Amino acid sequence: MSDHKEQIQAAQEKFQKILEEQFARIDKIKQEDDFVDYKNKEKIVIGVVGGDGIGPFITAEAQKILEQLLEDDIKSGKVEIRQIDGLTIENRAKAGKAIPDDVLEELKGCDVILKGPTTTPRKGDGYPNIESANVAMRKALDLFANVRPVKIPQEGIDWTFFRENTEGGYAVGSQGVNLGDDLAVDFTVTTEPGSERIIRAAFDHAKNNGKNKVTVVTKANVIKTTDGKFLETAKKISEDYPDIAMDDWYIDIMTAKLIDPKRRKEFEVLVLPNLYGDILTDEAAEMQGGVGTAGSINMGKRYAMFEAIHGSAPRMVDEGRAKYADPSSIIRAAGMLLNHIGKKEQAEKLEKALDICTNFEKDLVVTGRDDGASGAEFSEYLINTLKRPDLEEVYASYTA
Ligand code: IPM
Ligand code: MG
Repeated sequence: MSDHKEQIQAAQEKFQKILEEQFARIDKIKQEDDFVDYKNKEKIVIGVVGGDGIGPFITAEAQKILEQLLEDDIKSGKVEIRQIDGLTIENRAKAGKAIPDDVLEELKGCDVILKGPTTTPRKGDGYPNIESANVAMRKALDLFANVRPVKIPQEGIDWTFFRENTEGGYAVGSQGVNLGDDLAVDFTVTTEPGSERIIRAAFDHAKNNGKNKVTVVTKANVIKTTDGKFLETAKKISEDYPDIAMDDWYIDIMTAKLIDPKRRKEFEVLVLPNLYGDILTDEAAEMQGGVGTAGSINMGKRYAMFEAIHGSAPRMVDEGRAKYADPSSIIRAAGMLLNHIGKKEQAEKLEKALDICTNFEKDLVVTGRDDGASGAEFSEYLINTLKRPDLEEVYASYTA
Protein backbone atom coordinates (compact mmCIF):
# COMPACT_ATOMS: atom_id res chain seq x y z
CA MET A 1 0.00 0.00 0.00
CA SER A 2 2.68 2.48 1.03
CA ASP A 3 4.32 1.63 -2.26
CA HIS A 4 1.38 3.02 -4.19
CA LYS A 5 1.23 6.05 -1.97
CA GLU A 6 4.71 7.03 -3.05
CA GLN A 7 3.96 6.28 -6.68
CA ILE A 8 0.80 8.34 -6.55
CA GLN A 9 2.62 11.19 -4.92
CA ALA A 10 5.31 11.16 -7.60
CA ALA A 11 2.63 11.09 -10.28
CA GLN A 12 0.81 13.98 -8.66
CA GLU A 13 3.97 16.05 -8.68
CA LYS A 14 4.48 15.30 -12.33
CA PHE A 15 0.87 16.15 -13.06
CA GLN A 16 1.22 19.44 -11.24
CA LYS A 17 4.17 20.37 -13.43
CA ILE A 18 2.22 19.48 -16.55
CA LEU A 19 -0.69 21.66 -15.48
CA GLU A 20 1.63 24.58 -14.75
CA GLU A 21 3.22 24.23 -18.19
CA GLN A 22 -0.16 24.16 -19.85
CA PHE A 23 -1.32 27.31 -18.08
CA ALA A 24 1.89 29.02 -19.19
CA ARG A 25 1.15 27.89 -22.75
CA ILE A 26 -2.38 29.26 -22.54
CA ASP A 27 -1.01 32.64 -21.44
CA LYS A 28 1.27 32.65 -24.46
CA ILE A 29 -1.56 31.80 -26.85
CA LYS A 30 -3.63 34.62 -25.40
CA GLN A 31 -0.82 37.11 -26.02
CA GLU A 32 0.08 36.11 -29.55
CA ASP A 33 -0.23 38.50 -32.48
CA ASP A 34 -2.23 37.84 -35.58
CA PHE A 35 -0.86 35.88 -38.56
CA VAL A 36 2.17 37.59 -40.17
CA ASP A 37 1.54 39.33 -43.42
CA TYR A 38 4.35 38.37 -45.77
CA LYS A 39 3.50 41.20 -48.12
CA ASN A 40 4.71 43.65 -45.50
CA LYS A 41 8.00 41.88 -44.91
CA GLU A 42 11.11 43.32 -46.46
CA LYS A 43 12.69 39.93 -46.66
CA ILE A 44 11.43 36.38 -46.34
CA VAL A 45 13.83 33.73 -45.12
CA ILE A 46 13.09 30.19 -46.25
CA GLY A 47 14.87 27.53 -44.21
CA VAL A 48 15.52 24.21 -45.90
CA VAL A 49 16.01 21.32 -43.49
CA GLY A 50 17.20 18.04 -44.98
CA GLY A 51 16.33 15.73 -42.10
CA ASP A 52 17.19 12.03 -42.20
CA GLY A 53 17.29 9.13 -44.61
CA ILE A 54 16.12 10.18 -48.06
CA GLY A 55 15.29 13.64 -46.64
CA PRO A 56 18.47 15.47 -47.74
CA PHE A 57 18.18 13.92 -51.22
CA ILE A 58 14.61 14.97 -51.91
CA THR A 59 14.81 18.38 -50.20
CA ALA A 60 17.86 19.24 -52.34
CA GLU A 61 15.68 18.71 -55.41
CA ALA A 62 12.87 20.80 -53.93
CA GLN A 63 15.38 23.55 -53.18
CA LYS A 64 16.42 23.64 -56.85
CA ILE A 65 12.79 24.19 -57.80
CA LEU A 66 12.38 27.00 -55.27
CA GLU A 67 15.58 28.64 -56.51
CA GLN A 68 14.28 28.46 -60.04
CA LEU A 69 10.85 29.90 -59.25
CA LEU A 70 12.14 32.59 -56.89
CA GLU A 71 15.16 33.56 -58.97
CA ASP A 72 14.25 37.26 -59.19
CA ASP A 73 13.36 37.60 -55.53
CA ILE A 74 16.56 35.89 -54.49
CA LYS A 75 18.61 38.19 -56.72
CA SER A 76 16.93 41.28 -55.35
CA GLY A 77 17.38 40.06 -51.79
CA LYS A 78 13.66 39.81 -51.05
CA VAL A 79 13.96 36.10 -50.46
CA GLU A 80 16.80 34.16 -48.91
CA ILE A 81 17.03 30.40 -48.94
CA ARG A 82 18.99 29.16 -45.98
CA GLN A 83 20.10 25.60 -45.58
CA ILE A 84 19.85 24.30 -42.04
CA ASP A 85 21.83 21.20 -41.18
CA GLY A 86 21.89 19.38 -37.93
CA LEU A 87 18.38 18.04 -37.65
CA THR A 88 19.66 14.52 -38.16
CA ILE A 89 18.93 11.60 -35.89
CA GLU A 90 22.65 11.33 -35.04
CA ASN A 91 22.80 14.95 -33.91
CA ARG A 92 19.55 14.76 -32.05
CA ALA A 93 20.64 11.60 -30.27
CA LYS A 94 23.93 13.28 -29.34
CA ALA A 95 22.17 16.34 -27.95
CA GLY A 96 19.56 14.12 -26.28
CA LYS A 97 16.94 16.47 -27.66
CA ALA A 98 14.30 16.34 -30.35
CA ILE A 99 15.70 19.59 -31.73
CA PRO A 100 19.22 20.60 -30.64
CA ASP A 101 19.28 24.17 -29.24
CA ASP A 102 21.48 25.62 -31.98
CA VAL A 103 19.23 24.16 -34.67
CA LEU A 104 16.16 25.62 -32.97
CA GLU A 105 17.81 29.05 -32.93
CA GLU A 106 18.51 28.76 -36.65
CA LEU A 107 14.92 27.71 -37.30
CA LYS A 108 13.65 30.73 -35.37
CA GLY A 109 15.68 32.95 -37.67
CA CYS A 110 13.55 31.82 -40.62
CA ASP A 111 10.01 32.71 -41.58
CA VAL A 112 9.00 29.52 -43.30
CA ILE A 113 10.64 26.12 -43.35
CA LEU A 114 10.72 23.32 -45.87
CA LYS A 115 11.47 20.17 -43.92
CA GLY A 116 12.51 16.73 -45.08
CA PRO A 117 11.34 13.71 -43.10
CA THR A 118 13.01 13.02 -39.78
CA THR A 119 13.40 9.63 -38.14
CA THR A 120 11.63 9.13 -34.83
CA PRO A 121 13.45 6.69 -32.56
CA ARG A 122 11.55 3.62 -31.52
CA LYS A 123 12.14 1.27 -28.66
CA GLY A 124 15.07 -1.03 -29.36
CA ASP A 125 16.67 0.75 -32.32
CA GLY A 126 19.62 1.99 -30.31
CA TYR A 127 18.72 5.65 -30.01
CA PRO A 128 17.64 7.43 -26.83
CA ASN A 129 13.91 7.87 -26.40
CA ILE A 130 13.72 11.41 -27.78
CA GLU A 131 10.52 13.03 -28.92
CA SER A 132 9.67 13.16 -32.62
CA ALA A 133 11.42 16.19 -34.19
CA ASN A 134 8.21 16.85 -36.00
CA VAL A 135 6.08 17.04 -32.91
CA ALA A 136 8.78 19.07 -31.13
CA MET A 137 9.00 21.59 -33.96
CA ARG A 138 5.25 22.02 -34.00
CA LYS A 139 5.37 22.83 -30.32
CA ALA A 140 8.54 24.94 -30.34
CA LEU A 141 7.36 27.14 -33.21
CA ASP A 142 3.72 26.91 -32.12
CA LEU A 143 2.57 25.53 -35.47
CA PHE A 144 -0.92 24.88 -34.24
CA ALA A 145 -2.70 24.28 -37.54
CA ASN A 146 -1.88 21.27 -39.62
CA VAL A 147 -3.61 21.94 -42.91
CA ARG A 148 -3.89 18.97 -45.25
CA PRO A 149 -5.77 19.28 -48.50
CA VAL A 150 -6.97 16.14 -50.29
CA LYS A 151 -8.48 16.35 -53.75
CA ILE A 152 -9.91 13.68 -56.02
CA PRO A 153 -11.60 15.79 -58.71
CA GLN A 154 -13.06 12.88 -60.67
CA GLU A 155 -14.92 11.79 -57.53
CA GLY A 156 -16.01 15.26 -56.55
CA ILE A 157 -13.76 15.22 -53.51
CA ASP A 158 -12.18 18.46 -52.33
CA TRP A 159 -11.40 18.32 -48.63
CA THR A 160 -9.25 20.52 -46.46
CA PHE A 161 -8.44 19.13 -43.06
CA PHE A 162 -7.57 21.49 -40.22
CA ARG A 163 -5.91 19.25 -37.72
CA GLU A 164 -5.09 20.78 -34.34
CA ASN A 165 -1.36 20.31 -34.11
CA THR A 166 -0.14 21.10 -30.60
CA GLU A 167 -2.72 19.73 -28.16
CA GLY A 168 -4.72 16.57 -27.53
CA GLY A 169 -2.72 13.41 -26.94
CA TYR A 170 0.35 15.08 -28.43
CA ALA A 171 0.62 18.04 -26.02
CA VAL A 172 2.26 15.97 -23.32
CA GLY A 173 2.59 12.76 -25.29
CA SER A 174 6.10 12.11 -24.02
CA GLN A 175 5.25 12.96 -20.40
CA GLY A 176 2.96 10.10 -19.50
CA VAL A 177 3.31 8.44 -16.12
CA ASN A 178 4.11 4.85 -15.27
CA LEU A 179 3.09 3.86 -11.75
CA GLY A 180 5.04 0.67 -11.30
CA ASP A 181 4.46 -2.06 -13.84
CA ASP A 182 0.71 -2.17 -13.53
CA LEU A 183 -0.50 1.30 -14.32
CA ALA A 184 0.30 3.67 -17.17
CA VAL A 185 -1.39 7.03 -17.62
CA ASP A 186 -1.19 9.43 -20.53
CA PHE A 187 -2.71 12.86 -20.65
CA THR A 188 -4.72 14.56 -23.31
CA VAL A 189 -5.06 18.31 -23.23
CA THR A 190 -7.64 20.61 -24.77
CA THR A 191 -7.53 24.33 -24.11
CA GLU A 192 -10.18 26.79 -25.05
CA PRO A 193 -7.82 29.31 -26.70
CA GLY A 194 -6.04 26.45 -28.47
CA SER A 195 -9.33 25.10 -29.81
CA GLU A 196 -10.56 28.53 -30.69
CA ARG A 197 -7.63 29.45 -32.93
CA ILE A 198 -7.73 26.24 -35.00
CA ILE A 199 -11.51 26.34 -35.34
CA ARG A 200 -11.37 30.00 -36.38
CA ALA A 201 -8.66 29.16 -38.91
CA ALA A 202 -10.97 26.51 -40.39
CA PHE A 203 -13.96 28.84 -40.56
CA ASP A 204 -11.83 31.65 -42.03
CA HIS A 205 -10.51 29.27 -44.65
CA ALA A 206 -14.06 28.28 -45.53
CA LYS A 207 -15.13 31.89 -45.72
CA ASN A 208 -12.18 32.99 -47.86
CA ASN A 209 -12.45 30.06 -50.25
CA GLY A 210 -16.15 30.02 -50.96
CA LYS A 211 -16.89 26.92 -48.90
CA ASN A 212 -20.25 26.51 -47.25
CA LYS A 213 -19.63 24.11 -44.43
CA VAL A 214 -17.23 23.23 -41.65
CA THR A 215 -17.39 19.73 -40.22
CA VAL A 216 -16.21 19.25 -36.65
CA VAL A 217 -15.00 15.75 -35.77
CA THR A 218 -14.64 14.57 -32.18
CA LYS A 219 -15.60 11.70 -29.90
CA ALA A 220 -17.39 14.02 -27.51
CA ASN A 221 -19.96 11.37 -26.62
CA VAL A 222 -17.24 9.44 -24.77
CA ILE A 223 -14.25 11.74 -24.30
CA LYS A 224 -16.57 14.22 -22.74
CA THR A 225 -14.26 16.72 -21.13
CA THR A 226 -11.57 17.44 -23.72
CA ASP A 227 -13.43 16.60 -26.92
CA GLY A 228 -16.49 18.12 -25.31
CA LYS A 229 -14.64 21.41 -24.95
CA PHE A 230 -13.48 21.27 -28.57
CA LEU A 231 -17.04 20.75 -29.79
CA GLU A 232 -18.55 23.38 -27.50
CA THR A 233 -15.92 25.88 -28.61
CA ALA A 234 -16.74 25.10 -32.24
CA LYS A 235 -20.43 25.72 -31.64
CA LYS A 236 -19.62 29.07 -30.08
CA ILE A 237 -17.24 30.14 -32.86
CA SER A 238 -19.67 29.07 -35.59
CA GLU A 239 -22.05 31.79 -34.43
CA ASP A 240 -19.56 34.34 -35.75
CA TYR A 241 -19.91 32.81 -39.22
CA PRO A 242 -23.62 32.90 -40.01
CA ASP A 243 -23.06 32.12 -43.70
CA ILE A 244 -21.18 28.91 -43.03
CA ALA A 245 -22.95 25.81 -41.80
CA MET A 246 -21.41 23.61 -39.14
CA ASP A 247 -22.06 19.95 -38.60
CA ASP A 248 -20.51 17.60 -36.09
CA TRP A 249 -19.54 13.97 -36.45
CA TYR A 250 -17.88 11.38 -34.26
CA ILE A 251 -14.54 10.11 -35.44
CA ASP A 252 -15.61 6.47 -35.79
CA ILE A 253 -18.50 7.12 -38.13
CA MET A 254 -16.44 9.77 -39.88
CA THR A 255 -13.81 7.20 -40.88
CA ALA A 256 -16.66 5.16 -42.36
CA LYS A 257 -18.34 8.05 -44.15
CA LEU A 258 -15.09 9.12 -45.74
CA ILE A 259 -15.31 6.01 -47.90
CA ASP A 260 -19.05 6.33 -48.53
CA PRO A 261 -19.22 7.60 -52.12
CA LYS A 262 -22.62 9.17 -51.57
CA ARG A 263 -21.83 11.02 -48.39
CA ARG A 264 -18.18 11.98 -48.74
CA LYS A 265 -18.70 14.61 -51.42
CA GLU A 266 -20.55 16.71 -48.87
CA PHE A 267 -17.51 17.33 -46.71
CA GLU A 268 -15.48 20.45 -47.46
CA VAL A 269 -13.52 21.83 -44.54
CA LEU A 270 -12.98 19.55 -41.56
CA VAL A 271 -11.57 20.57 -38.21
CA LEU A 272 -10.49 18.06 -35.62
CA PRO A 273 -8.31 17.39 -32.58
CA ASN A 274 -4.76 16.23 -33.11
CA LEU A 275 -4.89 12.43 -33.02
CA TYR A 276 -8.14 12.11 -34.99
CA GLY A 277 -6.62 14.46 -37.55
CA ASP A 278 -3.50 12.35 -37.74
CA ILE A 279 -5.50 9.22 -38.47
CA LEU A 280 -8.18 10.65 -40.72
CA THR A 281 -5.70 12.49 -42.95
CA ASP A 282 -3.79 9.26 -43.61
CA GLU A 283 -7.04 7.61 -44.63
CA ALA A 284 -7.94 10.53 -46.88
CA ALA A 285 -4.47 10.73 -48.43
CA GLU A 286 -4.55 7.01 -49.19
CA MET A 287 -7.73 7.54 -51.19
CA GLN A 288 -5.99 10.25 -53.17
CA GLY A 289 -3.21 7.92 -54.19
CA GLY A 290 -1.16 7.23 -51.07
CA VAL A 291 0.19 9.12 -48.09
CA GLY A 292 3.17 10.14 -50.23
CA THR A 293 0.93 12.21 -52.49
CA ALA A 294 -0.37 14.59 -49.86
CA GLY A 295 1.36 17.69 -48.62
CA SER A 296 1.09 19.14 -45.19
CA ILE A 297 1.29 22.67 -43.88
CA ASN A 298 2.15 23.20 -40.26
CA MET A 299 1.08 26.74 -39.68
CA GLY A 300 1.33 29.13 -36.79
CA LYS A 301 0.88 32.85 -36.53
CA ARG A 302 4.59 33.61 -36.83
CA TYR A 303 6.11 30.55 -38.52
CA ALA A 304 5.04 27.89 -40.94
CA MET A 305 6.65 24.58 -41.84
CA PHE A 306 5.99 22.52 -44.96
CA GLU A 307 6.68 18.85 -45.35
CA ALA A 308 5.75 15.69 -47.18
CA ILE A 309 3.67 13.27 -45.14
CA HIS A 310 5.90 10.28 -45.88
CA GLY A 311 8.78 9.12 -43.71
CA SER A 312 12.57 9.07 -44.07
CA ALA A 313 12.74 5.61 -45.69
CA PRO A 314 16.06 4.52 -44.14
CA ARG A 315 15.79 1.26 -46.06
CA MET A 316 16.19 3.10 -49.35
CA VAL A 317 19.40 4.62 -48.07
CA ASP A 318 20.69 1.27 -46.78
CA GLU A 319 20.01 -0.30 -50.15
CA GLY A 320 21.75 2.54 -51.98
CA ARG A 321 18.54 3.79 -53.56
CA ALA A 322 18.32 7.25 -51.94
CA LYS A 323 19.00 9.05 -55.18
CA TYR A 324 15.99 7.33 -56.71
CA ALA A 325 13.65 8.58 -53.99
CA ASP A 326 10.64 10.45 -55.36
CA PRO A 327 10.90 14.18 -54.55
CA SER A 328 7.44 15.05 -55.88
CA SER A 329 5.72 15.08 -52.50
CA ILE A 330 8.20 17.49 -50.91
CA ILE A 331 8.09 19.57 -54.11
CA ARG A 332 4.32 19.80 -53.66
CA ALA A 333 5.00 20.98 -50.13
CA ALA A 334 7.34 23.61 -51.61
CA GLY A 335 4.41 24.72 -53.77
CA MET A 336 2.29 25.15 -50.66
CA LEU A 337 5.11 27.21 -49.18
CA LEU A 338 5.12 29.49 -52.23
CA ASN A 339 1.39 29.93 -51.91
CA HIS A 340 1.70 30.69 -48.21
CA ILE A 341 4.23 33.49 -48.72
CA GLY A 342 2.02 35.08 -51.35
CA LYS A 343 3.75 33.75 -54.47
CA LYS A 344 0.47 32.52 -55.90
CA GLU A 345 1.51 32.70 -59.52
CA GLN A 346 4.64 30.61 -59.00
CA ALA A 347 2.72 28.15 -56.85
CA GLU A 348 0.12 27.65 -59.52
CA LYS A 349 2.73 27.22 -62.21
CA LEU A 350 4.51 24.61 -60.13
CA GLU A 351 1.29 22.75 -59.48
CA LYS A 352 0.57 22.59 -63.18
CA ALA A 353 4.09 21.53 -64.12
CA LEU A 354 3.99 18.81 -61.47
CA ASP A 355 0.69 17.54 -62.79
CA ILE A 356 2.08 17.46 -66.32
CA CYS A 357 5.22 15.59 -65.25
CA THR A 358 3.67 13.14 -62.79
CA ASN A 359 0.12 12.61 -64.07
CA PHE A 360 -0.11 13.43 -67.77
CA GLU A 361 3.04 13.53 -69.86
CA LYS A 362 5.23 11.30 -67.69
CA ASP A 363 8.33 11.42 -69.90
CA LEU A 364 10.30 10.39 -66.85
CA VAL A 365 8.92 8.25 -64.06
CA VAL A 366 10.45 7.89 -60.62
CA THR A 367 10.02 4.35 -59.33
CA GLY A 368 12.27 4.44 -56.28
CA ARG A 369 14.68 2.08 -58.03
CA ASP A 370 17.31 2.26 -60.76
CA ASP A 371 14.77 1.21 -63.38
CA GLY A 372 13.29 4.69 -63.01
CA ALA A 373 14.53 8.26 -63.09
CA SER A 374 16.61 9.65 -60.25
CA GLY A 375 15.29 12.52 -58.15
CA ALA A 376 17.78 14.85 -59.84
CA GLU A 377 16.65 13.75 -63.30
CA PHE A 378 13.08 14.30 -62.28
CA SER A 379 13.71 17.82 -60.99
CA GLU A 380 15.55 18.68 -64.19
CA TYR A 381 12.51 17.46 -66.15
CA LEU A 382 10.29 19.55 -63.92
CA ILE A 383 12.45 22.67 -64.32
CA ASN A 384 12.42 22.25 -68.09
CA THR A 385 8.65 21.93 -67.94
CA LEU A 386 8.42 25.07 -65.81
CA LYS A 387 10.44 26.92 -68.43
CA ARG A 388 8.19 25.88 -71.30
CA PRO A 389 6.57 28.95 -72.82
CA ASP A 390 3.55 26.81 -73.72
CA LEU A 391 3.08 25.46 -70.19
CA GLU A 392 -0.47 26.82 -69.92
CA GLU A 393 -1.50 25.35 -73.28
CA VAL A 394 0.06 21.99 -72.50
CA TYR A 395 -1.72 21.86 -69.17
CA ALA A 396 -5.00 22.92 -70.76
CA SER A 397 -4.67 20.23 -73.41
CA TYR A 398 -4.52 17.55 -70.73
CA THR A 399 -7.27 18.92 -68.52
CA ALA A 400 -9.79 20.01 -71.15
C1 IPM B 1 2.15 13.08 -39.23
C2 IPM B 1 3.00 12.01 -38.64
C3 IPM B 1 3.52 12.47 -37.28
C4 IPM B 1 2.32 12.65 -36.40
C5 IPM B 1 4.54 11.51 -36.66
C6 IPM B 1 5.75 11.37 -37.53
C7 IPM B 1 4.94 11.92 -35.28
O1 IPM B 1 2.30 10.82 -38.54
O2 IPM B 1 2.67 14.17 -39.48
O3 IPM B 1 0.96 12.84 -39.45
O4 IPM B 1 1.85 11.72 -35.75
O5 IPM B 1 1.83 13.77 -36.34
MG1 MG C 1 0.34 10.90 -39.40
